[in-house]
Amino acid sequence: MARVIGNTARRFPVRVMEIADAAQAVVDEIESLARASLREQRRLVVGLPTGRTPLALYAEWAHRVGSGQDALRRIVTFNLDEFLDIAPDHPASCRSYMRTHLLERISLASDAAAFPEAGRCEAYEAAIGAAGGIDLQIVGIGRNGHVGFNEPGSARDSRTREVALALTTREDAAAAFGGLDRVPLRGVTMGIATILAAKRIRVLAFGAAKAAIVHRAVHSRASAALPVSWLRDHPDVQLIVDRDAARDL
Ligand code: PGA
Repeated sequence: MARVIGNTARRFPVRVMEIADAAQAVVDEIESLARASLREQRRLVVGLPTGRTPLALYAEWAHRVGSGQDALRRIVTFNLDEFLDIAPDHPASCRSYMRTHLLERISLASDAAAFPEAGRCEAYEAAIGAAGGIDLQIVGIGRNGHVGFNEPGSARDSRTREVALALTTREDAAAAFGGLDRVPLRGVTMGIATILAAKRIRVLAFGAAKAAIVHRAVHSRASAALPVSWLRDHPDVQLIVDRDAARDL
C-alpha cells in the first residue's frame, strides 16, 4: 500500500521504490488493466509522457512485449504534449521520442498512438473522449512543477491548448535540440483538467534533482503556481519516487 505523506488537506499517496521496481510495478498495472480491457472487448487507453523519467518504464514495457506479453501492445495511447513549430519527425519531437523508446519497440500501429497538434486541441479532447477516456495516465514532474507542458500558472480547469514554454523547460530540452536557441518557444499540452479526467494517474519522479520539487508537490498548498499539486485532487493518484527523490519528504 502507498504511504500517505503530506500536511495539506489533500494528500499524495507516495510510494518509494527503486527505479527498476517502479518500472515493474507500473508495467504490471498496465498489463493487468490491458488484460481486463481485452476481456471487455476493448483496448486500454494510456496517457504517456516523454523525458528521462519514463525511460526505464518503456524499456521494461518493450522487454515484456518482446517476451510475448501481447496484451501490452493491444492498447491505445495519447501523448501528454508536443513541441510546436518543428516538423513532427524532428529528432527531438515527442513523437520521435515515443517512436524510438516505445512505439516501434512494441510495434504499435501508428493510428493507435495519438499526439496533440497545433490547431487541433479540441479535436484531441474529442479523440480522447471517443476512445472512452484515459484509463491510466502517467506523468513526470518538471523541476518547475510542470506536468506535460502545463507550466506554472496553469489553471485546474485547463484543457488541451497551445502554451508558451517556461525557460526551465526549454533549458532542459536544450541538449536534445542542440542548444537553447533551437528549442521551440511553444508547445501543445493536455490540460490539468484533461489529466484529472483520467481514471488513474501515476506521477513519477526519480533522482536527487527532483527532491526539492517532490517536497513542494507533497507539502505546498495546491495552486496554479505548482501545477503538479492539482493532481492531489484525484481519487486514484499515486506519486512514485525513488529514495533520492524522496530525500526531503
Ligand atoms: P524529465 O522531465 O523526465 O526529463 O525529468 C520531466 C518533465 O519535464 O515532465
